[in-house]
Amino acid sequence: MKQDMIVILDLGCTENTVTARAIRSLGVYSEIYPHDITAEALKALPGIKGVIINGGANRVVDGVSIDVAPEVYACGLPMLVVDHPASELSEEAWPEKEEDVIERLRPFVFDVCKAEANWNMENFIEDQVELIRRQVGDKKVLLALSGGVDSSVVAALLIRAIGDQLTCVHVNHGLLRKGEPEQVVEVFRNQLNANLVYVDAVERFLGKLEGVADPEEKRKIIGAEFIRVFEEEARKLSGIEFLAQGTIYPDIVESGTKTAKMVKSHHNVGGLPEDLQFTLVEPLRMLFKDEVRACGVALGLPDEMVYRQPFPGPGLGVRCLGAITRDRLEAVRESDAILREEFAKAGLDQKVWQYFTVVPDFKSVGVRDGARSFEYPVIFRAVNTIDAMEASIEHIDWDVLTVITNRILKEVPGVNRVCYDLSPKPPATIEWE
Ligand code: XMP
Repeated sequence: MKQDMIVILDLGCTENTVTARAIRSLGVYSEIYPHDITAEALKALPGIKGVIINGGANRVVDGVSIDVAPEVYACGLPMLVVDHPASELSEEAWPEKEEDVIERLRPFVFDVCKAEANWNMENFIEDQVELIRRQVGDKKVLLALSGGVDSSVVAALLIRAIGDQLTCVHVNHGLLRKGEPEQVVEVFRNQLNANLVYVDAVERFLGKLEGVADPEEKRKIIGAEFIRVFEEEARKLSGIEFLAQGTIYPDIVESGTKTAKMVKSHHNVGGLPEDLQFTLVEPLRMLFKDEVRACGVALGLPDEMVYRQPFPGPGLGVRCLGAITRDRLEAVRESDAILREEFAKAGLDQKVWQYFTVVPDFKSVGVRDGARSFEYPVIFRAVNTIDAMEASIEHIDWDVLTVITNRILKEVPGVNRVCYDLSPKPPATIEWE
């Protein structure tokens, strides 16, 4: 490891990730550790230059007072003790704005700890390539490549490190957005020369989902079938010892810890059978989402892949409401493509967190070419949120709304009505199912 590191010890503070991100934005690497780390383990951390003891409100977690061990206080490393009082109104509270947090930490990081600003993507990639090569040796690695940001960046990093020792499996379950499976094949097989197994499982998934209207049942079928297809492909390949995963830092460390404990990363991909025993390779496990994107850019992935909006695992399956039918699924896919195109033209793709269309399983009356029509509506949604727990509705310019509406009505077969969903979360959820 080339970089210096500032360690944050978590004493039940909700600001751990904010603090780590602030230090990293100063160009210095930072990691969060539980408060009960021993002084010996702390001092052995590579590149450690200083410690922030990050106390939560009154340093009480679940009614129990906690503190770091006296030996940690006496370990000789530069140390900053931060207490976040219970009252948000207190002047001592951690500044709300990220820039202010960064400025408050700057003197400690550079003047006290004498850390060097050597955390950047080039060094990260170089380190990871080395670490992956060391971990994997000449063995083979398998990766489920969905085309989402995290799995795409893992794939690009592993291709850089071990080339064709990596096999990527892309399962097209028929519920992906327009152009997505094609883009995965184009980028990974044609441009990056990846060893890519493309599985066309469209009929299989749609068959399993036929007549199933309950949203949770649909999710379960899609999830279980995905594992089954992936498992079948894995069994066809021989000599695979490792499984790569796009686990990222927020999956590992709880933001806003209540227990002051690190959450261990999951040790298997959503229920692969025991006889498929793999060791995990998780090269992004220390990155925040924006760093994952920066890593993708540095590895040469296209912007559409790296700056992609969040997309649920069950895909368009939960946007084609009720029992999925092919005509409505195509209407969701086509209207979603139009929405994405128009949002990009209007610059809204940079401003809006998530935007998509939904096609319900009822029709309404309209007129087309002078005759009565009875067709589906398309509902679209554009929301902003920090953490997906609450969401507000984006104010969209009337002209943009009109262009989107007219294009959907003209270009998507079987649709005679377009509605914009104005409901915030709560009480609505972001998805309709
Ligand atoms: P809701 O609808 O619960 O969505 O407000 C919050 C965020 O989660 C995404 N979402 C899912 N992601 N599998 C996923 O991987 C799912 O089953 C799922 N359901 C919702 C949703 O798109 C939004 O970003």
